[in-house]
Amino acid sequence: MTIQLRPRSGVRQTISHVNLHYATQEDGPAAARLMELLGLVKTQEMPLPTGGLFYRFTVNEHDINQPDGIIYLSPLPPATAGLFAAMRERLGVGGPDEHPAVGAYRAANAIDPEFNLHVGFLVDSLEFIEERFAALRDDPELSKRSAILVNRALPGNPAIDARLDASPLYKDVTRYTYGRNGVQAFISTDLIVDGPLAERMVIEFDYVFPGYAEHIMSVSEVTPETAREIA
Ligand SMILES: [Fe+2]
Repeated sequence: MTIQLRPRSGVRQTISHVNLHYATQEDGPAAARLMELLGLVKTQEMPLPTGGLFYRFTVNEHDINQPDGIIYLSPLPPATAGLFAAMRERLGVGGPDEHPAVGAYRAANAIDPEFNLHVGFLVDSLEFIEERFAALRDDPELSKRSAILVNRALPGNPAIDARLDASPLYKDVTRYTYGRNGVQAFISTDLIVDGPLAERMVIEFDYVFPGYAEHIMSVSEVTPETAREIA
């Protein structure tokens, strides 16, 4: 029997949530603080029967119960932690006989934090990104657990180039976005451990300069400025 699908037109679809994990119960409060520093609003903090805290965050500051734009954060469930531990042991992660795929994976991620699973947030203020990343760099606890990497907009727009030349976060940057008229800022943190090696997670912030039909979130480009990143 063929199911008759309703027409897609008129249906509103958004991403409701992403479910993230910290590795140990001790990491929970710091991981939650990182989320808040990055602008998410904490709306729930609940002890779990298995230990650790479950958090709910939202991007919807003005309507916190809205059922989309949610990040859930909790400790790795025991079965997942066991799987990751067994996988890392078999791969010899960190040991003298570490599987060569581990180093190759880390090297690829160092070149481009977008190679693998990551979570991206769009904000409508470049100043917000600059302020929050400066705060992260100044935070003794969170900066130790996080690495920052940023991409400038592809060059060629004089107004955008001048704005970024004046930015404390972007002025000396020679990495570029896969697209025009926007910027990216990444945090790679070991406070959140979802992903292939179960040791770090990349969180991305995007800003699109207003007034351009074509931008980093509308069309991806591989240009001479970015080709090196995916070589
Ligand atoms: Fe991305």
